Amino acid sequence: MSDKSYQIALLPGDGIGPEVIAEAVTLLDAVSEACGFRITYTENAAGGAAIDRYKDPMPDSVVETCQAADGVMLGAVGGPAWDHHTGDMRPESGLLKIRRELGVFANLRPVAVPASLAEASPLRPEAVAGTDMLVVRELTGGIYFGEPRGRSGEPGNEDAFNTMRYTTPEIERVARVAFAWARKRRGRLCSVDKANVLVVSQLWRDVVTKLGAEEYADVELSHMYVDNAAMQLVINPGQFDVIVTGNLFGDILSDAGATLGGSLGLLPSASLGATRPGLFEPVHGSAPDIAGQSKANPIACILSAAMMLDDLGEEKAASGLRAGVEGALDEGLRTADLGREGRESVSTREMGEAILVHARKVI
Ligand code: IPM
Ligand code: MN
Repeated sequence: MSDKSYQIALLPGDGIGPEVIAEAVTLLDAVSEACGFRITYTENAAGGAAIDRYKDPMPDSVVETCQAADGVMLGAVGGPAWDHHTGDMRPESGLLKIRRELGVFANLRPVAVPASLAEASPLRPEAVAGTDMLVVRELTGGIYFGEPRGRSGEPGNEDAFNTMRYTTPEIERVARVAFAWARKRRGRLCSVDKANVLVVSQLWRDVVTKLGAEEYADVELSHMYVDNAAMQLVINPGQFDVIVTGNLFGDILSDAGATLGGSLGLLPSASLGATRPGLFEPVHGSAPDIAGQSKANPIACILSAAMMLDDLGEEKAASGLRAGVEGALDEGLRTADLGREGRESVSTREMGEAILVHARKVI
């Protein structure tokens, strides 16, 4: 066994977060051992759990632990217990803080619908089968972070505002990531904006167009307004290869994309910056209604762990996890979110165990 070892910061968070992180850790332990490297973990509260413990959804000490790690895995944050909180005391603002502090500006959300899942889709199976796209969402700018922002006035006559703004360098760096992925995939990039209305989108489009012409002429670049993109995702998802878009549009389109495969419980993400660590989190939320019942689908979190292994250069271990997920799905196992009328569904643990069995076959 080599002495290669990685330090991973775990932020299980709230709701189903701890359950899906637990499955990912079991899988990470197994594939790392089989592939000859070691993973050690730190674990910290985040989101609502951190509000309860520290009165802060993302204390600086937790941020520092994360910054010192090789990768950060987050489960989910938020829930009804903290819904009355506002501003910096919301669980979600802890998530935005860790994204900002890690500088993870490019959020990769792969949306693939294998044939075995096409029947779980709310759309016609033939409309979604074979969908395979990558949404590259800008993650540390745009309206999520734009200043000024505020709320003022008296009840009954208030005024509230956010600011959607992007600079040329912010657009360029995320567009570069997207162009590079398009090159590695099927050579097509669709940039999504609202340039018919928003000046920030007009800059976005100009910058992406210029970069494409100057440095990525081999990539076929197209542009689409976000309203049309939402519709195209539903009527003809197969047309997309790589999509690049801003923070808010990417948030919305990736949820729409996720439902193509029948469940948000399948969609992983990797958020990467100029340096490690990256932040790896399932796209789904904390699902408080099913928390603690072993009903959650661990696949999105396990596939997020696979994206982390890729980032660490441990491709063999990553492909073991992916093969494990594929094997379990092909075998017909489904958690409740993917449930079909009249068929049994498996628990979070059972799905994790099945994925492990299938992963072991290839590593
Ligand atoms: C996501 C989530 C977050 C976001 C929330 C929880 C802050 O919806 O990762 O898509 O809006 O980015
Ligand atoms: Mn979202």
